[in-house]
Amino acid sequence: MHLSLETFRRVCETVVAESSAPCQIVRRLAPHMRSLVQSADRFLKPAHLRGDPDHYARNLIFSDDSGVLSLFTLVWAPGQWTPIHDHGTWGVVGVVEGVLQEQSFMRVDDRPEQDRDEGIQLSPGGLVLLPPGAVSTFVPQPDHIHETGVATDGAPALSMHLYGNELNEFNVYDRNAGTRQRCRVACQRT
Ligand SMILES: [Fe+2]
Repeated sequence: MHLSLETFRRVCETVVAESSAPCQIVRRLAPHMRSLVQSADRFLKPAHLRGDPDHYARNLIFSDDSGVLSLFTLVWAPGQWTPIHDHGTWGVVGVVEGVLQEQSFMRVDDRPEQDRDEGIQLSPGGLVLLPPGAVSTFVPQPDHIHETGVATDGAPALSMHLYGNELNEFNVYDRNAGTRQRCRVACQRT
């Protein structure tokens, strides 16, 4: 089923207004993201397809005025990966082209009552391969820690990422140092 960008945006706004639990939001929006990726060639413009030879590129499709929704394209060349990060909000990811890889991590340190940015121990979880048409979702519980990218010997990829905020700030983890730090998204990367 084809879905226009305008209809998708209206559905997102309705679902967010009606649902307070992130798990409910992503459950309701995942099928719509699947329809949206199948319609991507109808609304994506050249500005949404801009890549960067130095790192994956993030291009805004829309964000709402109240800061509770944003939709981006991410453009991946072979071998380009995010740092290990979390978003602090829910997300729905749909793959348009290529195969996106998602490596999850779990915190295995004793999370203190007052959470801290040091002494963080991460253990790798499973790897998921997302082919064209695949949809992946996540919720903060309290974190969803992962890294995403494309295999060095893979094809370029294009994906769409819907988040439950404007995504102007998120956590980046240094697994060896056991630390995390806030990254402002003026850097256009997540
Ligand atoms: Fe992410």
